Amino acid sequence: MMNKVDVNIKPPSKRRLKGGLIILGISGAVIGGLYAVATPFVLPAFRKIPLPYVPATARQVDNVFKMLHSAGKTSGTLVDLGSGDGRIVIEAAKYGFQATGYELNPWLVWYSRLTARLQGLQYRAEFYRRDLWKVDLSRYDSTVVFGVPSMMPKLQDKLSEELPENGVVVACRFPFPDWTPVESIDEGVDTVWCYHKNQLGHLVSAGQSVGGCEEGES
Ligand SMILES: C[S@@+](CC[C@H](N)C(=O)[O-])C[C@H]1O[C@@H](n2cnc3c(N)ncnc32)[C@H](O)[C@@H]1O
Repeated sequence: MMNKVDVNIKPPSKRRLKGGLIILGISGAVIGGLYAVATPFVLPAFRKIPLPYVPATARQVDNVFKMLHSAGKTSGTLVDLGSGDGRIVIEAAKYGFQATGYELNPWLVWYSRLTARLQGLQYRAEFYRRDLWKVDLSRYDSTVVFGVPSMMPKLQDKLSEELPENGVVVACRFPFPDWTPVESIDEGVDTVWCYHKNQLGHLVSAGQSVGGCEEGES
């Protein structure tokens, strides 16, 4: 014979249910927000030609402008390919260049625009969310790139076709594989190389190295 047991299951109170839903909503918003912020930083590393966000050191930025000045570029148009947080473009604007940064990461583009605006440089330092491979580089007197070794051969071809006659290119940390720099400065990760369009016909012989770092070194 079975005893009858009264089981008294109370439904959760409306207050507890509401609290649970609020916590769930906040957790969802936080996770969604983190995902939205982090994704643009991670994606460039998974592109066909990966180029992750690694900001230039203060010394590299300094070296870029030493090279440009040494090449006679103290004003005119300048572009930074993959402009990150905008530090090179903003510094260029301070020096008197009309500077443009192209960057895929929308957060970095907005951060760069805000920094430029806060410093009153928004008319000399412009930032666009654009793929550097799809930008026409023919209107820039000075081109700056802090790239990775795997992108340099393709970028070398693009620049060879698009650089204006008086164009100067400055590469940070990794040099172009086939061009001879007119000048380089510093060593290791802070090395910066300078190339002139009108001297690009002068190639390094096969296997000859112009120095610099291996991919992955930072
Ligand atoms: C090594 S960081 C250099 C940042 C900056 N130029 C500096 O020196 O501080 C390279 C930047 O290029 C951006 N990037 C990667 N692929 C790109 C592409 N196809 N077009 C535009 N920007 C790109 C990355 O998001 C990253 O911010």
